[in-house]
Amino acid sequence: MMNVRPRINRWTKSRRDLIFGNSLLSSLVQPHFVVDGEGIDDPIQGMPGIHHQSVDMLLKTVEQDFSCGLTAVMLFGVVASHHKDPKASHAHHASHLLRAVAELKAKYGDDLVVMTDVCLCTATSHGHCGLVDNGEIVNDASVEILVNIALSHAEAGVDYVCASDMMDGRVTAIRKSLEKAELTSTGILSYSIKYESSFYGPFRLAANSTPEFGDRATHQMDIRSGYKEAILEAKLDESEGADIIMVKPGLPYLDVLRKVSENVSRPVAVYNVSGEYAMLMNATEDELSRQRMIIEVLTSFKRAGADIVVSYHAREVARKCWLK
Ligand code: PBG
Repeated sequence: MMNVRPRINRWTKSRRDLIFGNSLLSSLVQPHFVVDGEGIDDPIQGMPGIHHQSVDMLLKTVEQDFSCGLTAVMLFGVVASHHKDPKASHAHHASHLLRAVAELKAKYGDDLVVMTDVCLCTATSHGHCGLVDNGEIVNDASVEILVNIALSHAEAGVDYVCASDMMDGRVTAIRKSLEKAELTSTGILSYSIKYESSFYGPFRLAANSTPEFGDRATHQMDIRSGYKEAILEAKLDESEGADIIMVKPGLPYLDVLRKVSENVSRPVAVYNVSGEYAMLMNATEDELSRQRMIIEVLTSFKRAGADIVVSYHAREVARKCWLK
């Protein structure tokens, strides 16, 4: 059993290029919302250019993105309302998500870095990131379910499972289960520093994951909390075996991103979230102004120390060759 396997981030050329390549383009990750069905390609309200896609349509979009130099994707499995329940039962056999992973890997192999979000909120009927008992979000029992979800993604062939739930101890638990299953080249990207932000609104509509009651304040970080707690979370995740540390959201937390990047030894990712995307996309109709704003925002993440930038802007930037 090994807790930390530094080789994971070097395992494929596409992983090395994503993490260590020193261009903005090579550090971009494009998020996708995957739904069950066929021929589905529905625009998501509030997120111009981003669609709900079934696996067949996803493959076409990734093909075009890939040819423009985008070599990393982050997949969110959207679970239909009638499949949701209090225990997120559908999350670890969300067949469309597993099919998306398998088909992308069959087509691109090691040339594409495939990441998947691991959380309960898209599959729970109450929309919380963990199991709820007596009105409280319980920790350890939720971790057991997260482990099963992560394992199912790992078996389907993902490069990185991305734990976004903010339960304590989940990186240790996922790492142990990957070791036990001998999936020793599967990485863990941890949403280590995830704030209880108001910038997740469009995403929650897209993923149908708005909490039915209460909020995420007992697990996501308090927006007033500074870099000390951020570094605590990052260091914990490093010691538990996270291969990549993520800070989320991006723009309101550039200070935290800078401090974290100076204090950890694993690569650091930042998530330029849905609300940040919507805000910028609504700011102007003029394409040249938008181009300049997007480049300025993405550059700020690199300047603040991000190795990897997850952003809904990735596609437009790549397809229009704005970085060339
Ligand atoms: C799942 C998850 C969320 C996001 C990524 N993973 C939503 C949340 O925590 O409520 C937000 C991403 C975005 O806003 O773009 N827990």
